[in-house]
Amino acid sequence: MLDVQMGGPALRDQGFRAPPTLTYLNRVPPYDNHHHDPEEEADNSIDNGPTGGLTWDGRVDTGALQAVIPLTSPFEMGNSVPGVANAVRKSPHAVKLRAALGDDALATDSKAFAAVTRALGAFEEDYAEFSPYTSKYDAWLTGHAQLSAQERRGLELFDDEAKGNCAQCHLSRRGLDGTPPAFSDYGLIALAVPRNSEILRNRDPGFHDLGACGPERKDKIGQDDYCGLFRTPTLRNVAQRKTFFHNGKFHDLAEVVEFYVTRDITPERWYSRDARGKVVPYDDLPSRYHGNINRDPPFDGQRPGANARLGKDEIAAIVAFLHTLDDGYLKDNPYRSSRK
Ligand code: HEC
Repeated sequence: MLDVQMGGPALRDQGFRAPPTLTYLNRVPPYDNHHHDPEEEADNSIDNGPTGGLTWDGRVDTGALQAVIPLTSPFEMGNSVPGVANAVRKSPHAVKLRAALGDDALATDSKAFAAVTRALGAFEEDYAEFSPYTSKYDAWLTGHAQLSAQERRGLELFDDEAKGNCAQCHLSRRGLDGTPPAFSDYGLIALAVPRNSEILRNRDPGFHDLGACGPERKDKIGQDDYCGLFRTPTLRNVAQRKTFFHNGKFHDLAEVVEFYVTRDITPERWYSRDARGKVVPYDDLPSRYHGNINRDPPFDGQRPGANARLGKDEIAAIVAFLHTLDDGYLKDNPYRSSRK
């Protein structure tokens, strides 16, 4: 399993990001520089900062626009608009697209391309396929299953501000109106994930994937406050993934949790060394952007010599809990059937 996949016309070009999950996309709000949460208990005048948008950097708002990215990216599918248009006209989908969108839906290349991306966007809104809410955790929340003692403990540690504090960003509770938890607040945050030396582009020491401030996202290039920020993904089905974080640096959930609780306690474990053998903390983010790095719990109070907030057993419990977020435990969405 590669950290990031090969693409391009001959499948020889490598991108620099892991594919983001496509599940629960319908829950992601449009991108906003200054998000105010209507459900904020204390005060909804609080500015939660950049929030929302699809892909790791929040640069598009609809499934149709997102579909344009892999279709045309030179290091993903590497298509052109006429290429996609010609292919779809020749395919069995042409009849269906014309039936759904009108006889002239494929008349010009740009119309045909738009029809394809629109159809892909609509497909991603298919609830049963992409937002099933059939996990053991959903079953537990709706009274259809029990969590094991270890899973319960994992949930408590996940929620506890003095322990994992994961739920601050990966929301684990139902909304005030009963909406099932999305396991993301969609905030764009700089966690300072270590540089991934497996990514070919990273052989160039001058190259940095800065997330919201570029290079893929173009509207905030040069705006330093946005550098290093990536959008908080949902953790639903996360245990199904083989790579974690935007650059696919981690492959093991326990290691991800260890990173959260020891990033600044044992930086030598996470970050590379310079030519003189000195550890370079936050080695994938140039130092002028280090002020953007998140220091909320579980990062607060971390310094070399401090105790990690979570021990091995506690990390194992959080990982066990994360496994309860895999869809497929129930046959049907329990929120629908329990709706009165
Ligand atoms: C301050 C907000 C915040 C907190 C607190 C937080 N996360 Fe995250 N989480 C993020 C962001 C942002 C990312 C994506 C970062 C990136 O790729 O650069 C992420 C990514 C992840 C991923 C990788 C998901 C994927 O699809 O690759 C996992 C797993 C995860 N978090 C688990 C946790 C756990 C467990 C905790 C508690 C110990 C936690 N997070 C606490 C914001 C947060």
